[in-house]
Amino acid sequence: MKPEIDSNKIVVFTGAGISAESGLQTFRDSNGLWNDFRVEDVATPEAWASNPELVLQFYNDRRKQAFDAAPNAAHDAVTRLEEKYEVIVITQNVDDLHERSGSTNVIHVHGQLKYARSSNNDSLLYLYDEGKPIQVGDVCDEGSQLRPHIVWFGENIQNYELARKHLVTAGRVLVVGTSLSVYPAAGILKKARFNAEKIIITRQIDKKPSGYKLLRGSATTLVPSVIGDWLNGKKVI
Ligand code: OAD
Repeated sequence: MKPEIDSNKIVVFTGAGISAESGLQTFRDSNGLWNDFRVEDVATPEAWASNPELVLQFYNDRRKQAFDAAPNAAHDAVTRLEEKYEVIVITQNVDDLHERSGSTNVIHVHGQLKYARSSNNDSLLYLYDEGKPIQVGDVCDEGSQLRPHIVWFGENIQNYELARKHLVTAGRVLVVGTSLSVYPAAGILKKARFNAEKIIITRQIDKKPSGYKLLRGSATTLVPSVIGDWLNGKKVI
């Protein structure tokens, strides 16, 4: 039997587009990171094995930019939702702008820039806050080189089961700023229930999952508007 849907529970599922207006590059837009870098050079285990300096430099730049950025009106609106609802943020983002805005329940499925991890023991994590770079020669307590705490292509996403569990019970799902082109993270949205209110806010999307209402436009404009309606007890669709 499926678990009960909880009308007071909202899952907010986010991607790089929610942080775009904080000045952080997305991946697949025309000015996105994957236009400037090849995935296979910086975001795979093979890249790490063949050129760790380049991989570290790529993520050191991302960590510094994320530290210098600030949450925007879309992150802040998501935080405000907690005044009235149980809110679970599931994010593909590796920045910490949701947390810095004040969201208290954030699940990262693609890792976090502000941690380094042992390249030999996944349980050894180290805080690399305030934009601090990871250098070749930085090692864990067992002597292995530290790597970014990031899910690379070909690696398993993190917290999938926890994220799925929240989606199947959510009364509302708000998806923000993602092209939904990376699986299995994108596929998890299909786990939401048919009678949940489901909205996607993004500028551009190739394939919308069924049952979701698409609102095209800027996150800092549309997210506060939808969330304002929800806080006022209105349905958006
Ligand atoms: P993408 O770059 O694929 O998609 C960003 C989405 O945000 C697109 O749909 C844009 O149209 C939209 N967008 C851009 N600016 C926006 C704005 N101001 N307001 C609203 N929407 C806006 O980024 P993700 O979908 O997050 O994974 O990418 C998913 C994963 O691919 C990332 O987590 C990363 C990447 O490779 C890993 O590194 C494992």
